[in-house]
Amino acid sequence: MIIAIGSDHAGADLKKELAGFIRDQGISLIDVGPEGSAGPVDYPDFGEKVSLLVSGGQADRGVLICGTGIGMSIVANKFPGIRAALCSEPLSARLSRQHNDSNILVLGGRIIGPVMAREVLGVWLDTAFEGGRHAGRLMKITNIEEKTSKE
Ligand code: RB5
Repeated sequence: MIIAIGSDHAGADLKKELAGFIRDQGISLIDVGPEGSAGPVDYPDFGEKVSLLVSGGQADRGVLICGTGIGMSIVANKFPGIRAALCSEPLSARLSRQHNDSNILVLGGRIIGPVMAREVLGVWLDTAFEGGRHAGRLMKITNIEEKTSKE
């Protein structure tokens, strides 16, 4: 599995923490930045980089972190095939995988602490999509995406 990760300045500390957590599990990681703590950056720039990697198939899944997680969620869900889920606790993370096949996990660096974030990410990484009745619902989302991109 290849994971792409990115943040803005408000998510940079948590990104560093979670990048270590992901690498420690032997998972390949593409870190799109920002590097270090050089100052404010715009979340759409880094949200776009991760979303393109997942949407284009160069990464299997992505992790995005901004202050609240809301800006990154809005950006990521603009991209075809992206199902980004903002999660602050493990149950949402698990169900976002089982029911929604979420392919980008979004976290709020100013909302969630590092211990809970690791727990949420661990559950999200380890949970499979259930398919079945949920697959038909995802197909409906794909149909909406196709319809709205033509309009
Ligand atoms: C940056 O100050 C903040 O607006 C951003 O991290 C994010 O929370 C936006 O949704």
